[in-house]
Amino acid sequence: MRKILTLLVHCAMLLGIPSLSIAASCGQLTEPMTKEAIFERIKPVGSVESEGGVVAAAVTTELSETAGEDRYKSTCAVCHATGVGGAPKFRNEADWKPRMDVGIDGMLAIAIKGKGSMPPKGTCMQCSDKELRMTIEYMIPQKK
Ligand code: HEC
Repeated sequence: MRKILTLLVHCAMLLGIPSLSIAASCGQLTEPMTKEAIFERIKPVGSVESEGGVVAAAVTTELSETAGEDRYKSTCAVCHATGVGGAPKFRNEADWKPRMDVGIDGMLAIAIKGKGSMPPKGTCMQCSDKELRMTIEYMIPQKK
């Protein structure tokens, strides 16, 4: 940018004095000073950066297929594997059946709020609703 400004000043100072050198320095100036040329020069940096940002954001919000299983094992199994405090045990039909009447949305709402010895979000405060839903789907008896 500095170089262009210097050129601009240089060109303006020499204006009106016809000589080859003026033509040369002004000629040099006209091309890179066009709007398109400037945009072209600053564009790649900006677009690469913003694309990178989008990719990074997508990576952090994207849940893997095993997110439910991973979350269950890391957070919920502590209580739900053995039924601590009356927690419905992992994929246990008898434990889950009465709770499943409210549907996955109903169970999700209860899990988010907490209930009795079940802490809100099962202690996973950073979990999104989607992640909790995937985890519940993994914990309940699987359809055969
Ligand atoms: C500290 C122990 C504990 C942890 C950790 C825990 N739970 Fe629970 N959970 C319970 C207990 C106890 C209940 C039974 C609550 C009741 O019915 O009074 C329960 C019930 C539930 C229910 C059934 C709610 C309903 O509809 O009645 C769901 C769904 C659930 N937990 C999901 C989860 C998920 C998902 C996690 C992990 C992110 C988790 N829990 C972690 C103890 C726990």
